[in-house]
Amino acid sequence: MNNFISRRGFLRLLSAGGAAALSGVLSGCIVQPGRSRAPNMGDPAARGPSKDFLPDLEIDLRATAASASILPGKPTAVWTYQGSLIKGDASSLAILQDNYLGPIIRAKKGQRVRITFKNELPADQPSIVHWHGLRLPEEMDGHPRYAIQPGQSYVYEFEVIDRAGPYWFHPHPHGQTAQQVYNGLAGLFIVSDEEEAAAGLPAGEFDVPLVIQDRTFDADNQFVYSIAASGMMGGGMMNHSMPGMGNSAATPGSGNMMDGGMQTMMGMLGSQMLVNGKPNFTLPVATRAYRLRLWNGSNARIYKLGWSTGQPIVVLGADGGLLEKPVAKPYVMLAPGERVEIWADFRAVKTGTEITMESLPFEGAEDPSGMMSGNAPPQGAPLTLFRVKVERSESETRTLPATLSAIARLRQEDTVNASHPRQMALTLNGMQWLMNGRPFEMEAVLPEETVKLGSTEVWEIVNKLNPGQMMDANGMAHPIHIHGVHFQVLSREVLPQLKAGWDSVREGLVDEGWKDTVLVMPGERVKLAMKFERYGGTFVYHCHNLEHENNGMMRNYRVT
Ligand code: C2O
Ligand code: CU
Ligand code: CU
Repeated sequence: MNNFISRRGFLRLLSAGGAAALSGVLSGCIVQPGRSRAPNMGDPAARGPSKDFLPDLEIDLRATAASASILPGKPTAVWTYQGSLIKGDASSLAILQDNYLGPIIRAKKGQRVRITFKNELPADQPSIVHWHGLRLPEEMDGHPRYAIQPGQSYVYEFEVIDRAGPYWFHPHPHGQTAQQVYNGLAGLFIVSDEEEAAAGLPAGEFDVPLVIQDRTFDADNQFVYSIAASGMMGGGMMNHSMPGMGNSAATPGSGNMMDGGMQTMMGMLGSQMLVNGKPNFTLPVATRAYRLRLWNGSNARIYKLGWSTGQPIVVLGADGGLLEKPVAKPYVMLAPGERVEIWADFRAVKTGTEITMESLPFEGAEDPSGMMSGNAPPQGAPLTLFRVKVERSESETRTLPATLSAIARLRQEDTVNASHPRQMALTLNGMQWLMNGRPFEMEAVLPEETVKLGSTEVWEIVNKLNPGQMMDANGMAHPIHIHGVHFQVLSREVLPQLKAGWDSVREGLVDEGWKDTVLVMPGERVKLAMKFERYGGTFVYHCHNLEHENNGMMRNYRVT
């Protein structure tokens, strides 16, 4: 396995920086051309603090190996972020005990935040933190080119300019993001502001974050991740866990070499559902209204959220915060990277009642060969996600607000390229997922990948058929995420021959609010409008199926 990783790391460096990077490796330090703060093996602070930045909130964040109790019995070796509050209100940092998830950082719009990230992962794991959904200067955004080596630290200093919303953070080193997230690295970054406070939603213990993930465990309670892309050739396509061939404490979830490798191409689907890092998650509630905030922190699994009672889901917000007003939907789609906030009112429910949040069946997004999920339920299979148990009665007078926030609508007519939407084609070539015909390149930005600072554009994401491709002629579902911007969904269209799958999800797409990640179904074209404001620089956009991202389904774009 070490051979595999170092070979892959080596190839990545070659493609990333060409000859300069290669000579850097050979002389023992990684040189990234054209960058003053390149991570350097000998320098423990790849980016240090600046004297003139005065933070309101300051946190130390270490990525490290640890263990957590997940299943009954033996603890699971995990990688986790450990946070400590250096400066700020005690409520700004919540640590989840005995859990791989977290911490939860809470900040107010306008606050200045300093976070010192220290990479204490094993030697073959460079890492960098990306603040998913926050709009930040390029050096603060966690682009893979800023990945630091174990032993190094990187100081983030930024102002929270975004509206209240359920943002989050996770690793972003190219080619290793999927495994690092799978092994446990992810936390929440929840922003509040005055507009949100004025909406009068349930707060405090009645405002509940719920992170939905799936994992596969071996007989020893350890994460199984099929890291071996080369295992396809050597190991066949067996995806089941093989006890005794598994994981060391230093590298959880490294899987076993007999695993297929198909999951690392198509997307890792776990067989055990976890909510907030725990199986069989039950939320005890009172007979009153709750604000539930749901994150899809899974590598590849898409959920079709539906209450077991058949009642509609009342949506309050999306990736980028509150909608203008609540919207009831029969079910809600939540793809990897996406978030949704819902209003859950248990006033009319008898104490003692249990209600479950299900993932309802849907079609069109399943693994095309049907072999890739191993023992795990395939994409689109029905699942139970978590349970709500109504335990005590309370008299509550709060009602669902009629309006929640103001959203300035972007229209195609107002974009600079209204008649020529910027095309983003999603395709597959052999074993390689591509964006506009190309895989990720660390530094390259093509002239057609450049946008103007201050302009509003329309992008059209086109999920293409891949005629003749054995792996997936119809294409897969891709949750496309764009760094550095929030967007609005203008329209969706689907090829007639793939309409059945689309029809099984479309009423659950939350297109009413600000988004940073959008589910694009097979055969679908989705138009997005977005304004590039405030920060210039080079950012990425990519598929948030983390195996697709790892595999190269990511490109740079530059704001100038
Ligand atoms: Cu949550 Cu670039 O990703
Ligand atoms: Cu992001
Ligand atoms: Cu994808």
